[in-house]
Amino acid sequence: MKITVVGTGYVGLVAGACFAEFGQKVVCVDYDRQKISQLNAGEVPIFEDGLEDLLTRNVAAGRLSFSHDLPVAVPGSDVAVIAVGTPGKSGGETDLEHFHRAISDVLANIDSRLILVIKSTVPMGTAARTREWVKQITNPDQRIDIVSNPEFLRQGSAVNDFLNPDRIIIGGDSRHALRLMREVYGPLEKRNIPVVLTSNETAEMIKYAANTFLALKISYINEIANMCDHFGADVTKVAEALGMDSRIGPSFLEAGPGFGGSCLPKDVKSFVNSSKKRGYTFRLGKAIISANAYQRRAVVAKVKSLLGSLRGKRIAILGLAFKANTDDVRESPAMYVIKRLHHSGAKVRAYDPAASAPARREVPRIQYVNDAYAACDGADIAVLLTAWDEFRNLDFSRIHQSMAQPIIYDTRNALNRDQLGKLGFVYFATGRATLGDAKQHVETVAAVARKKRKAKPARKRGPAIAGIN
Ligand code: UGA
Repeated sequence: MKITVVGTGYVGLVAGACFAEFGQKVVCVDYDRQKISQLNAGEVPIFEDGLEDLLTRNVAAGRLSFSHDLPVAVPGSDVAVIAVGTPGKSGGETDLEHFHRAISDVLANIDSRLILVIKSTVPMGTAARTREWVKQITNPDQRIDIVSNPEFLRQGSAVNDFLNPDRIIIGGDSRHALRLMREVYGPLEKRNIPVVLTSNETAEMIKYAANTFLALKISYINEIANMCDHFGADVTKVAEALGMDSRIGPSFLEAGPGFGGSCLPKDVKSFVNSSKKRGYTFRLGKAIISANAYQRRAVVAKVKSLLGSLRGKRIAILGLAFKANTDDVRESPAMYVIKRLHHSGAKVRAYDPAASAPARREVPRIQYVNDAYAACDGADIAVLLTAWDEFRNLDFSRIHQSMAQPIIYDTRNALNRDQLGKLGFVYFATGRATLGDAKQHVETVAAVARKKRKAKPARKRGPAIAGIN
């Protein structure tokens, strides 16, 4: 079978590489010539564990190739997979420009019966609308089957998720197309991974229902964390105990600054928007959006309540990516937080193991440094916003000595509270301390820091700090 995958983002590239791994002949197409040149030179344009090996192996085996020339790539294909980006627009609308262009370009170049697979996340009802549109722009004797095949892989563990999915969803109304798609996923079905065959509408609904449920779980635990802050309970214990209930399950119960990324925020909004267009109010979806917006605002409010006025305060930011193990800052809570802190007059110095370059493009005004120590040096507070493993293994006694005030706000509950307490840090987290206690602690620390400053000659600050880029 020959498969053309259009779009080499993390979904398209991973799907293409994995289909090749399953033994199919795959061409990955992208309009971005630079990306294709990189791929042809053996470079991987995205940060994904295991992807480089997979690409190298399948290119060497002659099963996988890359092209920016769609008219050359498409002829002879049995299957065309559309995996282009479908970014969100304001009001929950989705930008389908790339999606439409990819389909019309594919259809302009086919020479035989084709299965058109929609892997991009598209608004509810898109497959049906596409079927009508395709009928209008192709010859009546041209057979095109539309299949909805949503993807559930996560950035950062995309290859592993693709090769070990919980289920495969194939939606469509053509028996021929469903049979061929089962063949494509044959190696996974042989390993007893369930395949759900259904209609296009149901497949689309499954994708949105899944992402919205994950968003709901995160927002639920975040709300519980906020309640814990008010009542002095510990959300990490609550989540652990909740997860022991097999009806609830332990995953996606980590409280934090709210969910981000290019999928969950956009998909919940799109789901709410689609339901509104059909005259139904999706109340829970609206509540998730509101709870998630509150959560990142609450981080800024907490920093303000801990430090008082932010004008001139030095704030160290640990983590910019929307989650660990990715360099993606789209809809990252950290990006919102740094913008607000900077806007309030704070001197923000940030470090992320992978995401500083994209963060700098979005927020050039703050200082980006090369390690966590440089970020914390002289800081009045360190705010951890992404749970990179690297942060768990820092030399915190060194950080304690270098900070102006040893205050850590661990929004992800990622650090060892007891260890930091023993070192003399004032430690705040999400859902693990009451605000009343926090204020008291901070006042004590500020008084100690004032004494420290009086006792010592003033430290030289500014450009002498190592690692600033
Ligand atoms: C998400 C889904 O998990 C995938 O199944 C789906 O395929 C993908 O969207 C998509 O639609 O393409 P992803 O955006 O890579 O994957 O990220 P997640 O791992 O779901 O994390 C999303 C956000 O939720 C991150 O900001 C993360 O930090 C946050 N999160 C996650 C929490 O705050 N707490 C948790 O317990 C889990």
